[in-house]
Amino acid sequence: MSTQRFDVAVIGAGAAGMMCAAQAGQRGLKVVLIDHASKLAEKIRISGGGRCNFTNRDVLPANFISANPHFCKSALAAYTPQDFLELVNQHGIPWHEKHKGQLFCDDSSEDIISMLRTECEHGQVQWRMPCKVDAIQAIELAAADSSVERATTGKPARFRVLTDQGLIEVTSLVIATGGLAIPQLGATDWGLKVARQFGLKVIDPRPALVPLVFNGDDWAPFGELSGLALEAEVTTGTDRPVTSFLEDVLFTHRGLSGPGILQISSYWQPGQAIRLNLAPGRHLGDELIASKAGNKQQLGTVLANLWPRRLTEQWLGESSASKLADAGDKWIRELATRIHGWTLTPSGTAGYKKAEVMRGGVDTRDLDQRTMQAKARPGLHFIGEVVDVTGWLGGYNFQWAWASAVACAKGL
Ligand code: FDA
Repeated sequence: MSTQRFDVAVIGAGAAGMMCAAQAGQRGLKVVLIDHASKLAEKIRISGGGRCNFTNRDVLPANFISANPHFCKSALAAYTPQDFLELVNQHGIPWHEKHKGQLFCDDSSEDIISMLRTECEHGQVQWRMPCKVDAIQAIELAAADSSVERATTGKPARFRVLTDQGLIEVTSLVIATGGLAIPQLGATDWGLKVARQFGLKVIDPRPALVPLVFNGDDWAPFGELSGLALEAEVTTGTDRPVTSFLEDVLFTHRGLSGPGILQISSYWQPGQAIRLNLAPGRHLGDELIASKAGNKQQLGTVLANLWPRRLTEQWLGESSASKLADAGDKWIRELATRIHGWTLTPSGTAGYKKAEVMRGGVDTRDLDQRTMQAKARPGLHFIGEVVDVTGWLGGYNFQWAWASAVACAKGL
């Protein structure tokens, strides 16, 4: 098979990869987009419950976790949620806003996939899919092959991409292979291996936006509450200010899930406790004591105004039947303290199979924040989730995929 020559090879045709390939192609570069999957952009397809929470109106650097928190600022400022929304509008995709600035497709996440495909067509991107990449080799500049077809820029080839569909030589190589979440959809650590191959550091990856699980015996009484959800303020860590999220929490057979837990899981460190305020915004001790005099209601009934009955019974046990009027102030205050600060230590996370994203990844201190290029390896770029920038739940991870892809494409 003859060697093919492109300006750019993008490996990984997910959110970041398609966006980058399209933008680079539309700038006039000759681009090949390679993915090993047989089905395109599965993570976009399943995202947002099938409706793709494609961005968030309010994106700030503080919504992202990274060992180098300043890194994401430049790309996020250069390509904003409004920029992506304009693209969505140009393609006539209907969308709506949910709570906390989250923007979703009205119909289906397929709309976003089609939009990115069309954008790639406009950039005359060539596809190799499904296509397995066996190896990446650096080309010593002196040995750059001038006998093969010249690419648009006339710049020398710097990388050789060995695939099961032949050899490709490129000036720039963009790694957009995503994170390790949902291995059943073909997630791999290939991008991290390429980073290490070229001497870049990798921040230890671990599951994030993931349910938390508890020791079986400790959790058994709460496992019975599986399916129950309520709003809580969830915190972890000893950082000041403490990171906290006011969101729904869901009881499961093995532990806790729901948006509040997924958010805090990205900050949680093994061995640390999490704290749940199960009556956020209230002063339960004062309220109960103030309404005590002559109150013949059972405690279980009083708290059932606040919580689902099942939780009240589980929480209070036998005290559920006691009358509020008979409860001592000290006991009420202790109860309120526990309700406002239920502290429990997860035994772990539900792992990559249940995680929405990977935390960690290619160390951003080894990348240029404007172009996503490896500082010590010209022509090698990393974008999207493979990079150590992890967004909150709520459209932030896609916004990072779009913004890092555009920054990279401009710098190619
Ligand atoms: P992405 O995973 O999209 O793409 C990587 C591509 O690389 C894949 O096509 C894969 O096949 C390919 N690949 C991997 N290894 C390869 C190899 N060795 N060779 C060739 N190709 C390879 N985010 C958000 O903002 N809003 C949301 O609503 C959701 N919802 C959501 C739901 C669920 C269930 C999950 C699992 C995740 C989300 N996310 C999300 C997160 C979001 O999907 C994710 O952050 C982005 O898809 C990351 O984009 P990337 O392009 O970096 O990776």
